[in-house]
Order: sequence, then structure tokens, then C-alpha cells
Amino acid sequence: MLQVQNIEKYYGSKNNVTKALNRVSFDVADGEFLVIMGASGSGKTTLLNCISTIDTVSAGKILMDGEDVAGLSEDALAKFRRERLGFVFQDFNLLDTLTVEENIGLALSLNHADAQTVQNRVREVAEKLGITEILSKFPYQVSGGQKQRTACARAIVAGQSLLLADEPTGALDSKASKNLLEIISTMNRDMRTTILMVTHDAYSASYAGRVLFLKDGRVFNELLRGDRGRSVFYHEILDVLAALGGDVSDVL
Ligand SMILES: Nc1ncnc2c1ncn2[C@@H]1O[C@H](COP(=O)(O)OP(=O)(O)O)[C@@H](O)[C@H]1O
Ligand SMILES: [Mg+2]
Repeated sequence: MLQVQNIEKYYGSKNNVTKALNRVSFDVADGEFLVIMGASGSGKTTLLNCISTIDTVSAGKILMDGEDVAGLSEDALAKFRRERLGFVFQDFNLLDTLTVEENIGLALSLNHADAQTVQNRVREVAEKLGITEILSKFPYQVSGGQKQRTACARAIVAGQSLLLADEPTGALDSKASKNLLEIISTMNRDMRTTILMVTHDAYSASYAGRVLFLKDGRVFNELLRGDRGRSVFYHEILDVLAALGGDVSDVL
């Protein structure tokens, strides 16, 4: 589905260049749950922003279903983001003046879907994510975990095939984090949504099928979960983090 080929990203001008990404390459297969891990400043957000076409690469290529996203026009890019990508961010990004139902349906409404279609689709996704009973509430009336579920529902309501999440558990307590990670796993397993999640947290990463480790803008290592249970995988992730060097407490 997604191919990242030798991408580089520089920030700044001639005398003051930050190399945020340095020859990063990987593929994401349809239906995968891939986590990108790395300490603060390792280039995770930059990588996600390049993939989501919010930012552009300095070198290299990003292909979605074989098509170079750099070759798309502004209109095609907007359409691509709206129809193919779902986003879940740390701060939810819900609109306070809209109900949960309206927040979830927004992308569909903007795509000119008729009201009945929007309602049916919103209810279907809400049911799967267990938030049917809060559809008429406003964001300030629901819990952090419910806001995050709402954000998840919104991210896939239009049938988006790739979910991008940047530190989605960063603002949640451990119970709400676990809850969200279970939801993301469900979206991956039962709704066949491909997940690309960025985190600096080993516990969050242990839900993935594969973890890529970034260090100073480079891919440092890769771990596959295979048939192993989540807690075994969690300990393997911690081992890699220790080998990554630096301050492990920085990524726990
Ligand atoms: N807009 C920007 N301008 C200049 N430097 C940036 C910008 N965004 C990120 N960087 C730098 O690029 C590096 C990677 O940052 P980032 O992708 O945000 O890392 P992470 O998400 O892993 O914490 C850091 O050194 C950061 O300071
Ligand atoms: Mg970041």
C-alpha cells in the first residue's frame, strides 16, 4: 500500500541545517499495524507529516499504491488526504461547537454525501467503536477516552484505508491509553484498517505487528511480533530500546 523510498528531510537554511530524516526506507502492506518508535527529536512526526503530505520530502519518494504523492496536484492531494487517510492526533482535534455525531460525519458532509448516508455511516462506525450513546453530546461533555474514540470514528468514517496516528496516547492516562490501543487494534483486525502509529512509548508499541526504531532520523532496527504474545513483544521492544543507547528512561 505504502512505499517509503530513501527519503530525506532537511530543515533550515545553508548554515543551519537539521537533517530530520536520513535515507529512511520501508514498506507498509495492506492491513498491517506498524509502529514507528523513537525518542523525542528522532524524526517521527516529520516522517508522518511527509507521508500524510502535510510536508514535502527533500529527497526520496513516497508511493501510495504505486503512485508518487509528490506528483499529485493540489486538488488531487486534498482528495487523496480526504479519501484515503485518517488521522488521530494527541489532542483529538474535535470541534467544540459540533456534536460527537457531527464531528464524526464532518468529512462525509464535506464530501457532499447526502444526510441519510452520513447518518447511517456515522451510526455504523459509532456502534463498532462503542460510542452510540454519546452521539448527541458535545465534546466537552464526554471523557478523554470517548473523545479519542470519536476521533477514531471520524478517521475511518469515509472508508479511509490508512490510519495515521501521532502519539495518540500521549495525553491519556494509562486506562484510557489501553482502551484506545484496544480500539486501534480492533480497527486493524476487524475493519482491516492499515495502521501507521508513531509513539515513544514501548507499551503502546507492543500492540503493533511490527516496530521500526528511528534514531537521529535513521531506521535503526526493526522488530516483528510474529506469533508472540503482547507482553513478550513488549520486553523485546525494551531490549531494543536499551541497545539504542542513550537514556532509556527518555522513551518509557
Ligand atoms: N519545522 C521545523 N523546523 C526546524 N526543525 C524542525 C522542524 N520540525 C522538526 N524539526 C527538527 O527535526 C528533528 C525531528 O523532529 P520531529 O520529527 O518533530 O521528532 P519527533 O516527532 O520524533 O520528536 C528535530 O531535531 C526537530 O528539532
Ligand atoms: Mg513528534
